[in-house]
Amino acid sequence: MPSPPKTPHAIWYDDATSLAQATRWSQQLGLPLTRDDALPEAQPLLVFHQGRLELHLGKPRHKGGVFAEFSARKTHAIQRQEGKNGLLARAIGLRKHPTPRVLDATAGLGQDGFLLACHGCRVQLCERSTIIAALLEDGLERGLADPETAPILKERMQLHAGDAGEFMRQKTGSDPVDVVYLDPMFTKSNHAALAKKEMQWLRLLVGQDEDAPHLLDTAIAHARRRVVVKRSLKAPVLGGRTPHCSIQGTTIRYDVYLPETPT
Ligand SMILES: C[S@@+](CC[C@H](N)C(=O)[O-])C[C@H]1O[C@@H](n2cnc3c(N)ncnc32)[C@H](O)[C@@H]1O
Repeated sequence: MPSPPKTPHAIWYDDATSLAQATRWSQQLGLPLTRDDALPEAQPLLVFHQGRLELHLGKPRHKGGVFAEFSARKTHAIQRQEGKNGLLARAIGLRKHPTPRVLDATAGLGQDGFLLACHGCRVQLCERSTIIAALLEDGLERGLADPETAPILKERMQLHAGDAGEFMRQKTGSDPVDVVYLDPMFTKSNHAALAKKEMQWLRLLVGQDEDAPHLLDTAIAHARRRVVVKRSLKAPVLGGRTPHCSIQGTTIRYDVYLPETPT
């Protein structure tokens, strides 16, 4: 039986220089501010320190928080690791269509979305957890202050805090996206993905995205060119739906679904 999702109980901040920003997030998210160090273990906590919003578990610590990052350092790491021939780039179909409009319907911390934006895609991020959307919003604001990443974020990344299924039904009827990308939260049996701390902590907040098969149906009905679903290598196909093809790596694969009548 999966444990129910948990919500951060407060926002902790380190000193007076963080107070204004901590207050802003406290008001936006409806969470109380605290500077108490004796906080319950294993409870999610938001922390504002060192100029950024982070998710922590238990006591606030100076290191080890989870946060969204869209920095030049990250851009260089992406360029080193994943050229246009990387798995995700191939799954999205960048060789044939180098600058598609991509809906990253399960944005999380925006790492895959940022990779796609660095490759030239115009990315709409959708995140329905208000806490994770706040981490994204904070990361995007910091990224906009970085001269190297600001143009990528300004021109190619937009955040919508809300449900992607609703978003597709409301917005893309007359203005469809080329590619919908889905990376739903793993289940406990998905050991490859469990290795990453970020995803384990986000999973505490959002649970298991049990409605992902339904989101896939909506995505297939709305994407102009394709839908790409990230899975761990051995995981069953999402919702029992057979993909058109799969691009496989050593621990993950991308299942590619084509709309019935591609345009
Ligand atoms: C595994 S994480 C995605 C990680 C992301 N690919 C990254 O690179 O950081 C899945 C995220 O999708 C979000 N999500 C799941 N279903 C959603 C939906 N219908 N609409 C918007 N967000 C959704 C969850 O709240 C969670 O934050």
